[in-house]
Amino acid sequence: MCGIVGYTGKALALSPVLEGLRRLEYRGYDSAGIALVVTEGGPLWVEKRAGKLSNLESTLGATNPDANSGIGHTRWATHGGPTDLNAHPHLDNDGKLALIHNGIIENYVELRELLEARGHIFKSETDTESVVHLLSDARKSHGGDLAAAMREVCAQLRGSFTLLAIHSDEPGRIVGARRNSPLVVGVGDGENFLASDVAAFIAHTKHALELGQDEVVDITATTITVTDLAGNVLTPREFEIMWDASAAERGGYPHFMLKEIYEQPKAIADTLIGRTAGLSAEIIGGIDLEGISKVVIIACGTAYHAGLVGKYAIEKWANVPVDVELASEYRYREPSVDASTLVIPISQSGETMDTLMAMRYARSHGARVFAVCNTNGSTIPRESDAVLYTHAGPEIAVASTKAFATQLIAMYLIALHLGRVRGAITEEFYAEIGAEIADLPDKVEQVLETVEPLRALTREFKDSSSVLFLGRHVGYPTALEGALKLKELAYMHAEGFAGGELKHGPIALIDQGTPVIAIMPTSNSALYEKMASNVQEVKARGAVVIAIGDADLASATHNIRIPTSHDFLQPVLAVVPLQVIAYEMAVARGNDVDQPRNLAKSVTVE
Ligand code: G6P
Repeated sequence: MCGIVGYTGKALALSPVLEGLRRLEYRGYDSAGIALVVTEGGPLWVEKRAGKLSNLESTLGATNPDANSGIGHTRWATHGGPTDLNAHPHLDNDGKLALIHNGIIENYVELRELLEARGHIFKSETDTESVVHLLSDARKSHGGDLAAAMREVCAQLRGSFTLLAIHSDEPGRIVGARRNSPLVVGVGDGENFLASDVAAFIAHTKHALELGQDEVVDITATTITVTDLAGNVLTPREFEIMWDASAAERGGYPHFMLKEIYEQPKAIADTLIGRTAGLSAEIIGGIDLEGISKVVIIACGTAYHAGLVGKYAIEKWANVPVDVELASEYRYREPSVDASTLVIPISQSGETMDTLMAMRYARSHGARVFAVCNTNGSTIPRESDAVLYTHAGPEIAVASTKAFATQLIAMYLIALHLGRVRGAITEEFYAEIGAEIADLPDKVEQVLETVEPLRALTREFKDSSSVLFLGRHVGYPTALEGALKLKELAYMHAEGFAGGELKHGPIALIDQGTPVIAIMPTSNSALYEKMASNVQEVKARGAVVIAIGDADLASATHNIRIPTSHDFLQPVLAVVPLQVIAYEMAVARGNDVDQPRNLAKSVTVE
């Protein structure tokens, strides 16, 4: 939610800043802007435009100012609409200090009143602009020391923020700060970077530094200083970025989403490496899993659906009650949670504010937190007692695909581990399911080899006003995920229902020609016949039924076959055609697949 990048080094800064913004555009695309120091002590060079980064790029044309440091921002609007004026960077009244921001400043109204009373003139409707005026005053009172000013300002702010600032008096210096929003440092050779995500600088360096809460970073081309808000110098944790630049490129695919759908076999296989025999003590950390009386899974969006599948697996295999909670609803109802509760936040980005806040609530009440996350060094794993990293690699498309597949794998691994330590499953069962899980990359590959006909099939219901998804057992969360994908990408009304619940209301939605996508339980499952009856019920009322399953369903209008699997593992296979249907529908309807309207991938506001 808002992408931030800063560059200082020997190169002309516009190019690495633009390149960083291109790689961070998944975080927001309401507007984009850049500030560069061209003339020492003079006005900053600033360009900003509403709309996608491409608008800014076409304005820039072949311009390449003679500047070796600068900052850039791509915005997901919160305060103030997506206009040129509200686009970041924001400047102080001297035009020499520029600031970009990701997050929300909660006390911006009172700050604005205070600053206007001091004579500052505001140009935008944003919360961010208060901070640049405040920083300008603070810098003056600190004799021009931007880092000291940033520390003072951060102490006065409420809310969440990543901030980057430059001043034309000091070309080559960038000062940043973070609280509840992400910021990493890329350490180069004679050049350094600051960014919301390592993807921004991966083509230049794989060496990075993690920043903690309320830390201020001050960089030049050759120096990096990190302090807390009191000014004490800190030693940040270093890490190497494991994936290479090509992982964040489209690699010949028309969209990142399609590439990521096809990367699922590898993502699953990578997530399983070294884990099929059990989760190591290194992953579990010091968590006492035997003593838990309850599991609470906290997540948003697609990750929530992975959590719902996790509930079925953990309750069955580990024999422990599981609640799955929408993170945004959790903490405000002040739920009962204690030291015997194991909390599992699931998050691709590790930065989702709702999930982070819910997890902090649980932790402050004594719960042990075992995170499932795809982003090394992000806030959620940093604040957890233990973490199981998924190895999906960078997921750039806003709609999640391969991260979901690996979150499902993480759920199975945790369920089996809990089952084992609690003595709820036998070693034979563990080995049998483990072997089935190890087969999943090949089976997903098989599904991907057969999805071509979905292209034509999807176009048949391109103009439908509504698409319904049905499932039972783990097919139910799969149905919810299929509906979410279609909403996000095709902007169509789509709903997922539990097959058995249909007759209690939703069946009234069925009309002549309503497309219904039925996720059939595996054909050897006791629920197969029940679901077949639910299909008959909708067919009798005029639905066009598309069945996904390991056997053809005679009553379906169309059948999409997937390989047979253990019934708990089926979501990993069944979700693939659903992702492809949503993708094809977005293409057919002329939508922007990788950057659907109104969404952002990493939602760092509540
Ligand atoms: C946003 C994204 C979803 C994602 C959700 C949770 O809403 O658009 O695709 O599932 O956030 O994100 P997380 O990074 O916590 O998994």
